[in-house]
Amino acid sequence: MSQARMKVAVLVSGSGSNLQVIIDRVKSGDLEIDLVGVISNREDAYAITRAKEAGIPVAVLSHVPNGKRMSISTFEKHALEQIQQWSADLVVLAGFMRVLSAQFIHSVPCPMINLHPSLLPNYKGLDTHQRVLRSGDNRHGCSVHLVTAELDAGQVLTQAWLSVRTGDSAETLAKRVQVLEHQLVPFTIDLIIKGVISIQDAKTAKSSSMMPLPLKLWLDQP
Ligand code: GRF
Repeated sequence: MSQARMKVAVLVSGSGSNLQVIIDRVKSGDLEIDLVGVISNREDAYAITRAKEAGIPVAVLSHVPNGKRMSISTFEKHALEQIQQWSADLVVLAGFMRVLSAQFIHSVPCPMINLHPSLLPNYKGLDTHQRVLRSGDNRHGCSVHLVTAELDAGQVLTQAWLSVRTGDSAETLAKRVQVLEHQLVPFTIDLIIKGVISIQDAKTAKSSSMMPLPLKLWLDQP
């Protein structure tokens, strides 16, 4: 008997290019998951259009009925209800730009992973490309990690690396890192659904049964 497909919900705030890559991989049959829903904390996120065009349920949780911006606690209350209603097995934060509370993270009944544009544990938080340039690092990239109460500090599952080039700006780095993100996100989800990365082992900081974490990929372009 074939196993049930993992139900994945995606949280977004912006363009949703990473969401699009997931949608495309699912459509092409490369990624065997069910995209059960997308939650956006911004009503102007292009990710909403991408999800709707793909026929994926979308919850836009940005404002309360009187027009005021939703507080983080109201957002979390509704987001938790959605995640439960969709019976998600995995939540992917793909360009989701609000900091979530410890209470919410502990309440979500399934693992959550986050895409971060740096080689964690370096450069947690914002403006990672500028900070890499300011420090004169010659390596940069992106990470997918487990979401824990401490910001950008959960076990790193996978990383994609590139070389910083002479003349790189924050913009050129952001573009090149994004090319890596588009490979790393679906690849990591695939490793999780295939059991190559064990979230349970990662949570308890044990090495995954098959490989030491994080799995580091060199995805630089010529
Ligand atoms: C990504 O580059 C991610 O690193 C950053 O936000 C961006 C999201 O891009 N945190 P998109 O919304 O998936 O296009």
